[in-house]
Parts: sequence; C-alpha cells; structure tokens
Amino acid sequence: MGETTVKALNGVSIGIERGSFTVIMGPSGSGKSTLLYLIGGLDWPTGGTIHVDEEEIETMDENALAVFRRNKVGFIFQSFNLIASMAAEENVSFPLRFAGVNPADRKVRSQKLLEMVGLSDRMTHKPTELSGGQQQRVAVARALINDPPLILADEPTGNLDSFSGLTIMQMLSDLHKAGKTIIVVTHDPRMRQFATDTIFLLDGNVVTEADYKNATELLTQPFEKG
Ligand SMILES: Nc1ncnc2c1ncn2[C@@H]1O[C@H](COP(=O)(O)OP(=O)(O)OP(=O)(O)O)[C@@H](O)[C@H]1O
Ligand SMILES: [Mg+2]
Repeated sequence: MGETTVKALNGVSIGIERGSFTVIMGPSGSGKSTLLYLIGGLDWPTGGTIHVDEEEIETMDENALAVFRRNKVGFIFQSFNLIASMAAEENVSFPLRFAGVNPADRKVRSQKLLEMVGLSDRMTHKPTELSGGQQQRVAVARALINDPPLILADEPTGNLDSFSGLTIMQMLSDLHKAGKTIIVVTHDPRMRQFATDTIFLLDGNVVTEADYKNATELLTQPFEKG
C-alpha cells in the first residue's frame, strides 16, 4: 500500500488434513481472512504454493479459479453476503446458475437445503425479512448447494447472538461428521469443542498455542487506573 509493504501472511507453512475441522484463531489484523481467502481461491499469494485437493491454486487463472471455487469450496462470511433483492430460495440456488443446472432442479435442491437448515417456512423471505441467525443459515445452505468437499467460514458467528451462533457451530459440526473438511476463522472459544485442530496466527505467522496465550493475555489484561 503506497510506501509501506503489508505482509498479511509471512512464511506460513501448514498442512490441513482432509476431513478435519480446523479452527483458525488470531487477533484482528493477524491474517486470518487473508489465509482463508488464499485457501478458497479468492485471493492470490505473492509467493509460495497452495495445494487444495491435489490442485495447485497459485498457478490458476481467473477461469480455472472460478471452476475450482464452484466445485471445491463453500464460503460462509461473517456478514452473510446474501443478495438483498432475492428470496432465501433464490439466494441458495444462485450458484447453480453457473453450474448449468436447470431452474426446476435448482429449486428442488435449494428447498432441500433450506429444509435441512430449518427454514422450510422462510423460503420466499428476503434477507431483510430474516433474523441474523436465519440469514446465516441461508448462507450455510448456499455454501452447500454445489456439495463442495471444503467449507470455509470467516467468523460465521461474529454477528450472531450466543444461541444462534451455537446453532451455526452445530451445523458445521454435523457437516464435519458427514465427511466435509471445515476451516473456520473464529473468536468464539466454544468453536474449539468441535475442532480437531487449531491454528494460531500472530502478525501473519503461525505460532504455538503457548506463545499465542502469552501474547494474547497481555492484550486482554485490564487497564490500570490512573
Ligand atoms: N487488500 C489489502 N491490501 C493491503 N493490506 C491488506 C489487504 N487486506 C488486508 N490487509 C492487511 O493485512 C493484514 C491482515 O488482514 P486480515 O484481513 O487477513 O486480518 P484478520 O486476521 O482477518 O483481521 P480481523 O479479525 O479484523 O478480521 C492487516 O494488517 C490488513 O490491514
Ligand atoms: Mg478477518
């Protein structure tokens, strides 16, 4: 950015097991979203290599990346990112338009997924007519529409109350049990009870849990009076 070079990630070398439920934790600005975007083919690295399911992402062009994202990745965002003018059902089925699926089949698949996330009575509601927890459940259904093996979620419970957040965690856990690989960025310590692995990030580097605890305890100590 201008004169300064921001190293959002710096020498991160990690392996994430197929079928794992991996939680990524780190303070604001530590590179969590960047890491998730790189894994999901939403951003390009300036160096290094990224392999997902035997595919080398960093060598792909825009078209190849689009195909990779469509077949391999379901992305869930903190801010839901639903299309305001579309009903829940259309939001969920939208990615299928680019997969060449006909409208009748799109509708059936979308309805099945909305039932699965407990929203069969909200199919025709637009995002503004849904609660935050319901919007995020629509977003979960949308992430699953192409049946991707990999689910990436960037603080999916960040904008939800405690109970709605737990519902989303439970859904991710069920998907994990059904064989999906889950990678979740979160600040919510409850997510770790579902996780098989945790990655700790500080200033763009992967650190051990002990180092992470030391550093973040300093951050969370109460301010002294006076
Ligand atoms: N497109 C960009 N151009 C320049 N710098 C960026 C860009 N995106 C992110 N950064 C910087 O990279 C670093 C990591 O950002 P990132 O969004 O990955 O953090 P994060 O861990 O997800 O933070 P948060 O918890 O606040 O979401 C930050 O210092 C940020 O300012
Ligand atoms: Mg982020």
